[in-house]
Amino acid sequence: MDNPENNVSNSIMLKEIFEQPAVVKNLINRCINSEDVVTLNLPLNINNIVISASGSSYNCAAIAAPLFREMLCIPCEYEYSSEFILQKNYFVTPETLFIFISQSGETSDTLHAIKKIKELGGKTLCITNAENSTLWNLSDYRILSDAGEEKSIASTKALCAQLFCLILIILKIKFSKAQSIEREIHALKRLPLYLERIIGDFDRIKTAAKMISKYRNIVILGNKTYYPVAKEGALKIKETSYLNVAAYPFGEFMHGHVAVLNEKAIVIAIIDDENEISAKRNLQKIRDDYNPQIICISSIKDVDCGDYNIYIKTGKKIKAIFGALITLQLIACEIAAILKKNPDKPKGLKKVVRD
Ligand code: AGP
Repeated sequence: MDNPENNVSNSIMLKEIFEQPAVVKNLINRCINSEDVVTLNLPLNINNIVISASGSSYNCAAIAAPLFREMLCIPCEYEYSSEFILQKNYFVTPETLFIFISQSGETSDTLHAIKKIKELGGKTLCITNAENSTLWNLSDYRILSDAGEEKSIASTKALCAQLFCLILIILKIKFSKAQSIEREIHALKRLPLYLERIIGDFDRIKTAAKMISKYRNIVILGNKTYYPVAKEGALKIKETSYLNVAAYPFGEFMHGHVAVLNEKAIVIAIIDDENEISAKRNLQKIRDDYNPQIICISSIKDVDCGDYNIYIKTGKKIKAIFGALITLQLIACEIAAILKKNPDKPKGLKKVVRD
């Protein structure tokens, strides 16, 4: 694993991170027509969403769920596929849409999950990167995430494409309820340019990675949609550098979990305008009691409450979610490079987890 022949700074993972602006551009061209209509084929009479997925695809579901609730005012639950299949009862109605997300379309837990819902007559939709995969063929409705082949075991561009597809689903349902989506479509069209700016900041991100790589006790904190973003960042660092990284919702972290901190720990805090006041208050307590290093990833300019701050260059929520995700992906990739771990050959991990 520490073989110097491993060219860690030219990894496939890094190449795929860099492809994300193009992946989004392609989805915009394919799924939004010249009249700004989302062209996905979806069932529209929906008042309840249930999402099942694994790993990064699950984190994607968890990131999108608060957006379904906030933008559509409908319930949206999400569950690890491996837990979903252990459920005793499923609430299946004609207005419930079951969404299954999988890059490969072959993850066994997710296939078992969709089969359960099909047996019960539920309405199913998949988002997958693999046309004609088993998941694709089992689903009533299908969305191709179209990220191009993802070779890296640590998923990056596939999650970005999945999240973009979930946002398109939200907008399509919103539009079907006679609500304007003009502002959101305008913002989505500017997303590729924004992602290029985030990637253009790699040097600043590398400095953060260098700081983090010195620690073996790493905590990532975020609220609401940024908690699963934090979990995704933790997953990326674990998969590529084998460090023990844990993600927590900010407030909950203060309920005992905070005891894992000390001056040998580092905290990565994700801050936006919704959690700014409480996050700053909690960071101050953390500093007073444990004095760890703190890195802030923030959509607020001049947030200035970390030992090192990364501004993700937007105050717009959807852009900022992608910005924080890509920042954490780049941090993970760079930590692996610094620690001479090849992110393309993670020990004991496979691209597709089967039975
Ligand atoms: C992500 O980086 C992982 N390699 C893994 O968690 C993956 O997302 C999970 O196994 C699900 O795969 P799928 O999207 O192909 O179903």
